[in-house]
Amino acid sequence: MLRANDRGSATVAAPRLYPHQWSWDAAFVAIGLAHLSPERACTELEHLLTGQWRTGMIPHIVYSAESGDYFPDAARWACADLTDAAPGVPATSGVTQPPIHGIAIERILRTPGGERAAVRDRVGRMWPPLMAWHRWLATARRSPITGLVTIVHGWESGMDNSPRFDEPYSRVKVPGSLPAYRRVDRDHVAEAGERPSNEDYDRYLWLIEELKAARYDDAEVMASVSFRVGDVFMTAVLAAASEALAAAGTLIDAPAADVDWLTAQAASLRAAVGAATDPATGDSADVDERTGHHLVAASPARFAALLCGTGSSETETQLVDRFLGDDCCGHPALFAVGPPSTSPASPAFEPTRYWRGPVWPVVSWLFWWALDRHGHTDAAAQLRAGGLSYLADGSFAEYYHPFTGAALGSRDQSWTAAVTVDWLTPT
Ligand code: SER
Repeated sequence: MLRANDRGSATVAAPRLYPHQWSWDAAFVAIGLAHLSPERACTELEHLLTGQWRTGMIPHIVYSAESGDYFPDAARWACADLTDAAPGVPATSGVTQPPIHGIAIERILRTPGGERAAVRDRVGRMWPPLMAWHRWLATARRSPITGLVTIVHGWESGMDNSPRFDEPYSRVKVPGSLPAYRRVDRDHVAEAGERPSNEDYDRYLWLIEELKAARYDDAEVMASVSFRVGDVFMTAVLAAASEALAAAGTLIDAPAADVDWLTAQAASLRAAVGAATDPATGDSADVDERTGHHLVAASPARFAALLCGTGSSETETQLVDRFLGDDCCGHPALFAVGPPSTSPASPAFEPTRYWRGPVWPVVSWLFWWALDRHGHTDAAAQLRAGGLSYLADGSFAEYYHPFTGAALGSRDQSWTAAVTVDWLTPT
């Protein structure tokens, strides 16, 4: 399936619904491809980096020139028309996505074949752009108040319509001047109840207009856009990826100053996640940077501290127990162990709607990876077994019904196939 979605030097996220290269999808794809060919895994990330902005931002979509059946298309973003920071070719979107790439880079180097000089050289050539990426997140996007990574669009979180963002989105007012558009996504997913609502989409599209009005200037965007959220999940991912990239740096003899900087960033990001975590419950909260409100939603982002580690094995063991408990991965009605994108115990739960209920195998993979890395091997094994149960129907769906295990959303989703390869490859 990964080969069928391979367009030469980039893998489309899915052949119909997502016919371009997405940033965090590409990182997961590289993790899967690493087992088949570390060189091809490098190609995937090199292609993504052709879309990197001069600022260091890796945009969330790198558009392919051939396939146009996706909305918003590159013309709607108009990035290169509005700022010199964006490349003219390839065309890209104007927002970013979770920084999984450092995790992929370390995986490529540690997979059999990753020690080959040709692979190390290619990672070495990607090192400066990857550092620029991490430095951009640290300088342009870390809140001086909370230390969390700030997102300016729900798409940046990767969890578009999660209840995490209901409150900040309620403050995004869509004026009558929103340019017309058509929901092309609905041509590919017939069930409206599996996708974000039309109201959600209006807000998503309106935020693009606000970003355009700010000409995608980082400082202007932070000052003007009406959605600004300190994203605790993205912060924890960045902490984990910084640590993984630092480990990769030592394998390729990257400059010691870079490795030290990444290690220090990881510590400071972990501290920001710690500060956003309630010591009594262990729940991590996003922060609405416009109001200062802490936003705790019944999503796996509550368990963000598990992704980057807490530094205390006692706290972590309690948190792992809660993560595997009734309110999340172990809810009695679940088809198999896995973090539902919204807990069935929450009033916001909708079992088929995108990030409001279904189980996403890539999220299971991320928690599996982190738990395994931090020594919670039994819990990790349960997540892996549960994740494989969901995707065992072979449709490689984007997400799954948490109670029945039925495939939902897009099919032939590259990242679902990629984590399957990773889970099934003996280490
Ligand atoms: N997740 C978005 C979509 O559904 C894009 O990033 O199209």
